[in-house]
Amino acid sequence: MSIAADYAGFAARELRGVSRAYERLALAVSADDELLDLLGTLPPAKRQPNLLFGVVRLLGGPVGDPAAFHDFTVTHWPAVEAELRVRATQTNEAGRCAVLLPLLAALPQPLALLEVGASAGLCLYPDRYAYRYGDRRLGAGEPVLECAADGPVPLTRLPEVVWRAGLDLNPLDVTDPADVAWLDALIWPEHAHRRERLRAAAAVATAEPPLLVRGDLVDDLPALAAEAPAGATLVVFHTSVLYQVPRPRRDAFVDLVRGLPGHWISNEAPDVLPYDGLPEPPDAGLHNVLALDGTPLAWSRGHGQSMLWFG
Ligand SMILES: C[S@@+](CC[C@H](N)C(=O)[O-])C[C@H]1O[C@@H](n2cnc3c(N)ncnc32)[C@H](O)[C@@H]1O
Repeated sequence: MSIAADYAGFAARELRGVSRAYERLALAVSADDELLDLLGTLPPAKRQPNLLFGVVRLLGGPVGDPAAFHDFTVTHWPAVEAELRVRATQTNEAGRCAVLLPLLAALPQPLALLEVGASAGLCLYPDRYAYRYGDRRLGAGEPVLECAADGPVPLTRLPEVVWRAGLDLNPLDVTDPADVAWLDALIWPEHAHRRERLRAAAAVATAEPPLLVRGDLVDDLPALAAEAPAGATLVVFHTSVLYQVPRPRRDAFVDLVRGLPGHWISNEAPDVLPYDGLPEPPDAGLHNVLALDGTPLAWSRGHGQSMLWFG
């Protein structure tokens, strides 16, 4: 796919109705030959809209006006390029815990959570946050995660978590202002509620830091999984990670995780881990497939804002 088509597709699939500012920006970039030529000098993984927009925001550039964005990016291209080459999108969205929770709560307790592609580890605290599914509320903590669930959410309790560990190629540290600045820059402009959520979730992680290990989700998973305490159900999970992993390594990961004790929860786009016979998604927006031990169970929106159970 061309870079222009990538940007236009991203605008239609992920941004429409979710971020007006980025939708306009992505459409403008898709028709901007000068920016497309600059992006074409980068490796494919470094051309993504989310990465470009996040880097420009991190550098203090404007993202509300496509013409000003163009001028800033062209003028500051050496700095923009340098950041694009060393960074990856590491958006850490605690809101995704709202779609993981029904599965986690139904497993034998207590749980030993191991998240691959954990970023700063904010999805490792599903037991500390509070949730609102329509008029049902669970938990008393902060942030409160809202999830519009179509159909009943089979929930009776928060999970009991006795161990939390994350594996990431580049773990981020919520006590480091530079890492928090990058996490903040990755949040879409109008999403003030997600900025507040980041602050509240970071406070939770700061109070009880997770074990975060720098490593690869294939090479380093067995050693970390072996550290999980006996007597707890090991749950290896990942959300919005495998699209960053080349297909042969994805396959190796799936083989590996299927051989581990415990359970495996996956929340990834449908083209990333293809399943047979998925129902139609509820609309044209990007949805992840929530799956337990390889069985797809629900559609979920990218930031955990809604879910729809299959059948
Ligand atoms: C988009 S972020 C998602 C973070 C988190 N799972 C969430 O949902 O909020 C993807 C993360 O996966 C990590 N990642 C990508 N490839 C990886 C690999 N091969 N091994 C470990 N982590 C990886 C990236 O560094 C990044 O932090």
